Amino acid sequence: MAEKQYVLILDYGSQYTQLIARRIREAGVYSEIHPCHKASEAFDKHVPSAIVLSGGPASVYDAEAPQLDVSILGHGIPILGICYGLQVLSYSLGGVVESASEREYGRAILSTVDSASKLLAGVGIGTQVWMSHGDKVITAPMGFRSAATTSDTDFTVIENPEKKIYGVQFHPEVAHTPEGRTIINNFLFRIAGLKPTWSMSSFIESTVEEIRQAVGDAHVVAALSGGVDSSVMVALLHRAIGDQLHPIFVNNGLLRKDEAAEVRGIFCHHLGIDVDCVDAADRFLERLAGVIDPEVKRKIIGEEFIRVFEEESARFENVKFLAQGTLYPDVIESVSFKGGPSATIKSHHNVGGLPERMHLNLVEPLRELFKDEVRELGLELGLPEVMIWRHPFPGPGLAVRILGEVTRERIELLQEADAIAIAEIRNAGLYRDIWQAFVVLLPVKSVGVMGDERTYEHVAALRAVESTDGMTADWFKIPHDVLGVISNRIINEVRGINRIVYDISSKPPSTIEWE
Ligand code: XMP
Repeated sequence: MAEKQYVLILDYGSQYTQLIARRIREAGVYSEIHPCHKASEAFDKHVPSAIVLSGGPASVYDAEAPQLDVSILGHGIPILGICYGLQVLSYSLGGVVESASEREYGRAILSTVDSASKLLAGVGIGTQVWMSHGDKVITAPMGFRSAATTSDTDFTVIENPEKKIYGVQFHPEVAHTPEGRTIINNFLFRIAGLKPTWSMSSFIESTVEEIRQAVGDAHVVAALSGGVDSSVMVALLHRAIGDQLHPIFVNNGLLRKDEAAEVRGIFCHHLGIDVDCVDAADRFLERLAGVIDPEVKRKIIGEEFIRVFEEESARFENVKFLAQGTLYPDVIESVSFKGGPSATIKSHHNVGGLPERMHLNLVEPLRELFKDEVRELGLELGLPEVMIWRHPFPGPGLAVRILGEVTRERIELLQEADAIAIAEIRNAGLYRDIWQAFVVLLPVKSVGVMGDERTYEHVAALRAVESTDGMTADWFKIPHDVLGVISNRIINEVRGINRIVYDISSKPPSTIEWE
C-alpha cells in the first residue's frame, strides 16, 4: 500500500463509521478505519492524505471520554470532524462545548450558510441535514469561524480554512443528509486535493501485483465453498498467480441441490480455473450417522473438513500459503466505550485453525473490501451474477437445517423442497431483497390427507430474513400468494413432506439458522 493515497477515519464509536468509509470509497478514494486511540500507530504505518474523525456516543465531559491525539494536527493534513468528532476537535483546541440535557435527533435545516466556505460549496440555505447529538459547540476555538447554523445550533459547521480543519455537527454520511455526498466530496477534492483513483480495476491491478510479490514462486491452496467471498477470492488469485493456485472444493454431501455441479461448471468451464473437486460425502455422512446434537454436528463437520483439506493439499508441492476470503468488516477493530475505549478485534477464520496447523502463511486479498465491493469485484473478474448474488450458506450446510439425524434420504427431501422455495422466490422477483431464504426439515411428522389416503409425513419450515450483515435480522414479509405457491408446490412435488410452516421470528432472540 506504500504510495496509495488514503483517508484515515478515526473511529470514536459511531454506528455510522463504516458508512463514512463507504461514502469516501464511493467517491473514488481509498479509506481505512482505525480506533481513535491508535491514531499514531496508523500514522506510523502510512501517513494519510486526509483525516476524518467519526461521531460517537460519548460526551467530551465524560470521565473516560475518548480524546483527540493532538499530535495528528501538526502535519497540515486536512481534517474533518463529524458530530463527536467536531466536539472533541473544538474542545481539544480550546473551544467550549455545552453539555446538553436533551439530544437533538433527526431532521434539521441549515438557516445560514457561508457562501465562501469550500466545504459547503453547492450547499444552500434550507438544506436538510441529519442530527444525532447531545452536546454542542457554543464557542469555536481560536482561528475558527461558523460556516453554517441551524435554529438550534450556531456552530453547525466550523472551519479554519488556513489550517484545513473543518467540523460538522450533523452526519453527512447518512442518506437523510441529501447534500452529504457534496460535502464529503468537497472535503476530499476541493480541500484535501485528492484524486478519485480508487476503483475496482485499479484495485485488481495493484492487488495482483502485491500477491505476485508476496507469493513469489510458491504455491497457494484455497478452500472454495462456492459462496461469494471464496469464489471472488479464487478468481482474483487465479488472475494473479494462475496455476500456482490450487482451489479445493470439498463436496461434503450437505450442499444445496445441484450446487456441486454448478460450482464446478462455473470455475472449470466458464472461468477456466482448474478446481480440485473432492467428493467426500460418504466420509461426512458416515461420521454424522446417529448424531442429533447441533454442536456435535458442527464439530464433526469442521474436523472432517480440515482432514480432507489437509489430505488434498498434500498432493501439491511447494505449498506455502493458504488463501482466505476474509472481508474488511471482519478485520476492523471495533471500539467500545463501555468503561472507556477498548478495542475488541473480531477474529474470524473461515477455515478455522488451518494456517497454524499446516504451517502456512495467509493470503487474504479481500481484507480491504466491503461485501458490496466484493460483489463488484467478482463481476469485474467475470463471475456470473447467479454466483455473485447467491444467498449466504453456512459451512455445516444442510446438516444444520435437518433437525435431528442427517440421512441421505432427508438430505434429498430437503434439497428438493429448498430448490422449489428458491425457484418461486426468484419467480416472484424477491430473491435479491431477501438476505437468506431456505427450508428447514423438522423432526416432526404430522397427519395429512392426499387423495383418499391419510399421510403421516415430515413438516418443513420456510425461513426468509432481511438483514445487512447476518448479525441481526427480521423475518421477511413474503406476500401470501407467493407463500401459497411455495407450500402447494413442495407438498405436491416432494414426497415425504405434507405440511409447511412459515418462520416469523426475528434475530435476536432467535437465530437465522435453526441449529
Ligand atoms: P445465525 O444462525 O447465527 O447465522 O443467526 C448468522 C449467519 O451466519 C451463517 N452461519 C454460518 N456460516 N459457518 C458459516 O460459515 C457456520 O457454522 C454458520 N452458522 C451460521 C448463517 O447462515 C447466517 O447467514
